[in-house]
Amino acid sequence: MHEIFLCPVCGELLIESEKLYCCVKNHNFDKARSGYVNLLSVRRKHAKLPGDNPEMVRARRDFLNHDYYQHLQEALCKAVLKYMPSAGVLLDAGCGEGYYTKKISDALPEECSCLGIDISKTAADLAARADKKTRYAVGSVFHLPVGEQKIDLLMSVFAPYCGSEFLRVLKSQAFFIMVIPSARHLWELKTAVYDKPYENQVRDYALDGFAFKEKIISEKEILISSPEDIQNLFQMTPYAYRTSAHERERLEKLQSLHVRTAFEILIYQKEA
Ligand SMILES: C[S@@+](CC[C@H](N)C(=O)[O-])C[C@H]1O[C@@H](n2cnc3c(N)ncnc32)[C@H](O)[C@@H]1O
Ligand SMILES: [Zn+2]
Repeated sequence: MHEIFLCPVCGELLIESEKLYCCVKNHNFDKARSGYVNLLSVRRKHAKLPGDNPEMVRARRDFLNHDYYQHLQEALCKAVLKYMPSAGVLLDAGCGEGYYTKKISDALPEECSCLGIDISKTAADLAARADKKTRYAVGSVFHLPVGEQKIDLLMSVFAPYCGSEFLRVLKSQAFFIMVIPSARHLWELKTAVYDKPYENQVRDYALDGFAFKEKIISEKEILISSPEDIQNLFQMTPYAYRTSAHERERLEKLQSLHVRTAFEILIYQKEA
C-alpha cells in the first residue's frame, strides 16, 4: 500500500496502522470509527465547522444516493479509467461524501490507491462509512497533506481549485480532471424559482501549468419526483443562500420537476 499522507505538525510521512496514523516523530492521528483521519491543523482551521455544514452534506448525500447524477458518475469513472496509469494513486480533492470517489475506487484495479480529502468532517465521515477501499482525510485543498509529486490523477468535482497545490502534488505529466456545471445546468429549476434566472458562467478553460487535453459533456434531462429531493438539490446549489422568502415559497410548491442537468468533464495534463 502506498503511504501518502503527511503529518500536519512536522510534514513527515504518516504510516498507517489499524487504528491510527503516526509519523517518525511520534505525532499520532487516530482514525475515527468510520476510518477517516483528521489532518486539518488547528492553525488552518478558520471556522468551527469548516466546509459544507452537516445539513448541506446530508442534503447532497440524500439527493445523490437517488442516482439522479448517475450519468455523470459513469462518465467521470470512464474518463478516470482512461487516464489512470496502472498501480497509480488517485486523489479526489474536495471529495464530499465520496459519491464519485467510491464508484471510481470500486472500478479501478486493486493495485491502484485512492485518497479522498475534504475539509468537512461530516463529509469525510460519511464517505469513509460507505467506502472501505479509499483512505479519507479531513484537510484543505489549499494545503494538501500530501507530498510533492505523489499523485497520478487528481480530480476536483465542484470543489475549490488551488492550482499551486495541485501542481505540487501531481507527478510530472500526470492528469487533472475537473468537473464543472455547464451554462444551462438546472435551468428549469432556476426558471421555476427566479423572475430573472442567470446562466452559470463557464470560464476560460486555460489553467496555468496545465495543458488542456479534452472536454467530455455529460447531459441528461431528469425527473425529480419528490418535493424533498427538489429541496435537497436546491440546498446543493450555490444559490441556496441568495434566495428571497418569495422565491423560496415558489420552490416549496414544486411537487416534481423535469430539469436539465449538464456537466463538463475537463481533462488536463501537468506540463512538466
Ligand atoms: C459542492 S461540494 C462537492 C463535493 C463532491 N465532490 C461531490 O461532487 O459530491 C464541495 C465540497 O468541497 C468541500 N470544501 C470546501 N472548501 C474546501 C477546502 N478548502 N478544502 C477541501 N474541501 C473543501 C466542501 O466541504 C464540499 O464537500
Ligand atoms: Zn509529525
